[in-house]
Amino acid sequence: VARRPIIAIDGPAGSGKSTTAAAVARALGYTHFDSGAVYRAVALVALGSLGPPETWAGAAVAGAAGRAPVAVHAGGGRFVVLVGGAPPGDALRSDAVTQEVSRVAAMAEVRDFVNGLLRSAAVDGGVVMDGRDIGTVVFPDAEVKVFLVADPEERARRRLRERGRTSDSDAIAMEAGALQARDRRDSTRAVAPLVQATGAVLIDTTALAFEEQVRQVIALARAATFGVP
Ligand code: C5P
Repeated sequence: VARRPIIAIDGPAGSGKSTTAAAVARALGYTHFDSGAVYRAVALVALGSLGPPETWAGAAVAGAAGRAPVAVHAGGGRFVVLVGGAPPGDALRSDAVTQEVSRVAAMAEVRDFVNGLLRSAAVDGGVVMDGRDIGTVVFPDAEVKVFLVADPEERARRRLRERGRTSDSDAIAMEAGALQARDRRDSTRAVAPLVQATGAVLIDTTALAFEEQVRQVIALARAATFGVP
């Protein structure tokens, strides 16, 4: 049986991938999967069970994530990541996790482990998955590929707003710096670096209303999957 379509949405930190992916999935009756949450869960496990981050080795991190375990569970139109059988909630967005997640995401053993979870979760398709390498590595045969970008300062403003923090110019500059540092690590790593996939449609959301970027992705999906339920 042929699988249903897969929509891959990649892009740098804070470009609106997850919120866009969730809205597109809702509109199409697909399931949303935030792959970054799985990398965050791995970082959370490493922080809780291994020594100082500078000493982490790929095999040990992947081993800890496999045992802990990090798992995914589908339900109600979305996937949830589980750590030790329970949803980790806000811990995934903690500063410590955000700081160390790019370190574990650069490890080949960790990427193999996470890719296994992502591919088995989406085996039947009907999925909107967002991340950094979904269109390049995880699902290179995705029916629709989107690369979402936005100016760093606009991304910083959105991130601060999301977290209910004040966004004076100092705060924006600091947040933009942190986002760009993470992008640099994600774009320059040896394994599955952040890059626009061949065949991906670039959408710059800097000046776009949220509804408009959602509309554009839905239009691409309808065009690509015309006749497919
Ligand atoms: O999307 P989010 O910002 O939550 O992702 C957190 C981190 O997980 C990214 O900075 C990146 O290092 C890693 N990641 C990845 N590949 C993906 C998704 C996320 O390397 N497909």
